[in-house]
Amino acid sequence: MEKKFKEARENVLSTDRDVREATADHQYEFPYSREDEAQVTRRQFCNFLTLTSTALFVSASGFAAKSAYDSTKARAFDSMRVEGSEGMQPGSALNFHYPGENDTAILIRDNDGNYHAFGQKCTHLACPVYYAKEHDRLECPCHEGAFDAKTGAVLYGPPPRPLDEIEIEVSSDGQVTALGRKGGGYAG
Ligand code: FES
Repeated sequence: MEKKFKEARENVLSTDRDVREATADHQYEFPYSREDEAQVTRRQFCNFLTLTSTALFVSASGFAAKSAYDSTKARAFDSMRVEGSEGMQPGSALNFHYPGENDTAILIRDNDGNYHAFGQKCTHLACPVYYAKEHDRLECPCHEGAFDAKTGAVLYGPPPRPLDEIEIEVSSDGQVTALGRKGGGYAG
């Protein structure tokens, strides 16, 4: 068995020697030795990996920066009266849609009597949040996330960013009008 292996190995090596001898006159056209060639290939491969990962990192950072920037901009839409808002009592909430029919939103009149409005889709996996009056916060039933009812900021749980914020105007008789929406969780 060992003898056979030695023979096979010698066969391969002698074939390699034969090839190198037969091509000796032309080797100056290919100045790399086999070892160097392997080095070059490894170096090229490493360069390729470095370039590819740098390009991926730069483009991913660009997307993240753009989406963070977009989420801080308020986008104006046609103003819309929120039906039913004029009768809201402190510690209550009202669902509505803004700016489009598919854009669910929630209007809150907090325990202090102030109004706040947010997109109703949780920023984790888009479950609808609800107003928990006893804690004065918005809670998500899916994975126990929670948001501040006054600012929409994440209080705890897996949501990665605040709720979409809806700009509102409140008249002296308590009529709420939606003016714009900030964030990214809406169809527009
Ligand atoms: S969908 Fe709201 S916490 Fe997961």
